[in-house]
Order: sequence, then C-alpha cells, then structure tokens
Amino acid sequence: MKDEVVIITGGSSGMGLYMAKRFVDEGAKVVITGRNSERLDKARTQIAEGKKENVFVIEMDVRKVDDVEKMVQQTVAKFGRIDHLVNNAAGNFIAPAEKLSPNGWSTVIDIVLNGTFYCSHAVGKYWIENGQKGSILNMVATYAWNAGAGVIHSASAKAGVLAMTRTLAVEWGSKYGIRANAIAPGPIERTGGAEKLFESESAAKRTLQSVPLGRLGTPEEIAGLARFILSEDAAYMNGEVVTLDGGQWLNQFPF
Ligand code: HXC
Repeated sequence: MKDEVVIITGGSSGMGLYMAKRFVDEGAKVVITGRNSERLDKARTQIAEGKKENVFVIEMDVRKVDDVEKMVQQTVAKFGRIDHLVNNAAGNFIAPAEKLSPNGWSTVIDIVLNGTFYCSHAVGKYWIENGQKGSILNMVATYAWNAGAGVIHSASAKAGVLAMTRTLAVEWGSKYGIRANAIAPGPIERTGGAEKLFESESAAKRTLQSVPLGRLGTPEEIAGLARFILSEDAAYMNGEVVTLDGGQWLNQFPF
C-alpha cells in the first residue's frame, strides 16, 4: 500500500483504528476522522509508532455535508490524492422497535446511511472530476440482509448501505472504474459493537454460543480482509459483500 492514501471515517477506535494501523504498517498514508479530537490524537499516536507524518486526523461529523466537503479538501491538501475511502463511522444502540423514538431512529439513519452517502458522493466526485480511479469499502452487518432484532434503525441503515454499495459498483464501476465493496463483520472483540453485545453476562454467553467457531473475531482479522479488498489482488471484486463472522448468521438452528 506504499503511499496510497486512505480515508477511514470513525477511525479513532475499534475496527477503524486497527484498519488504520494495518494500512500504515504497509506504507499507506491514512486520514482518520471522528467527532472527538482527543480520541483522534490518542489514536494517531497508537497507529503511527514513529511514522506520525503518515497519519492525519480530521475532527468532523459525517452527518454534516460541509464537514465532509472539508474532509476531502484537507486530505488532498495534506497528501495530494485519495485512493480509498472506508466508510466505517457508525452509530448504534440496542432498543426494541416499539420503544425507539423518532429522533433515535433518524440519528442512526443519519450517521450510517446519510453519512456513508455524503462521504462516498464527495470522494467519488473528487475522483471523477480529477479522472482518478479509487475504491470504496463500506462496513455493514449481516443484518443488512437478515433480521436485526433490537437494532431496527441500524439494520435498515445498513441494508441501505449495502444497496448503495452495489448501486455505486455498477454506476461508477462502468463509467469510471471505481470499485465499491463491503464487509459484514460478526461480533468483533475490542469494538464498540462488542461492548454493546456484552452488556450482561447472559448476553455475552448467548453471543458466543451463536458463533459456530465459538469465539469473537478480532479487529486484526477485519483489517486483513479490508487490506485485501482494497488491494490489486481484489481488482476484479466489485459490488461484493464479504462476511467475516465465524459462520454466525448461518447458525439458525444451533445444536
Ligand atoms: C434508546 C437512545 C439510546 C439508547 C441514544 N438514544 N441512545 N434511545 N436507547 N441506548 C436516543 C436519544 O434518546 C435521542 O433521542 C437520540 O437517540 C439521539 O441521541 P444523542 O445522544 O443526542 O445522539 P448523538 O450524540 O448524536 O449520538 C449518536 C448515538 C451514539 C448513535 C446515539 O450512541 C453514538 O454516537 N455512537 C457512536 C459509536 C457507536 O455507536 N458505535 C457502535 C457501532 S456498532 P430522543 O428522542 O431522546 O431525542 C455497530 C455494530 C452492531 O454498528 C453491533 C450490535 C449492537
């Protein structure tokens, strides 16, 4: 990934942080975005390990179109180009559908669905206007096509992001050679999602029992897959969603 420039939204923690670390280790220049500047600075120190010049942080909110436009301008001003966009920023909480407030619904839709579109649109326009090719990687979840009981807002938004991935793969793939793919992670340790799933001991036990491989995934495994999808080895992959969940979503009748 030498000198390739990657923007990772929500890159100050969880899977975003580990993807950034992997990409920088392989020579990439990485931009991580997030809403909290202290967390971003801490992440930059963790990721860089002596190569701080290869990590740039941008405090922004994917829900704000002006912030997103500035993210593109600042990235180009700093590193001169953009090669990949990883739409990793997410918002989620567990709430039964009947108890979810309209604002709770629209907050998650705004971060996950609208934020992914705003970032893809701004970076895609930059590529198209400059005659460059690039690739987009969206983080979804298996409930983008399956049921997401307790997270109807996130499931609906991720289903939209998956449709967006496939639509852009066709629209921008055919006209501009821009690829768009997605990863659907299962429960992954050291992430905000796992913290929510492991709120109680019984919930933790249920989650582990639901995974045929009997363990959580690691953010390093997600980073390895992301690295492959962005690489030339996956140059023919377009509009695909790759599940990395230990077989969890197939496990309908555990025995
Ligand atoms: C019910 C809740 C709630 C909860 C927030 N709300 N948390 N309702 N149960 N636990 C409601 C609020 O009451 C409010 O509605 C509305 O949501 C907006 O809340 P705010 O706190 O004002 O929003 P904001 O500050 O913008 O924060 C967004 C957020 C927050 C999504 C609520 O959790 C966040 O920023 N999360 C980012 C990190 C994150 O969630 N990462 C995990 C992704 S994991 P009212 O009606 O009161 O105004 C993932 C994988 C899935 O996606 C794993 C399975 C769980």
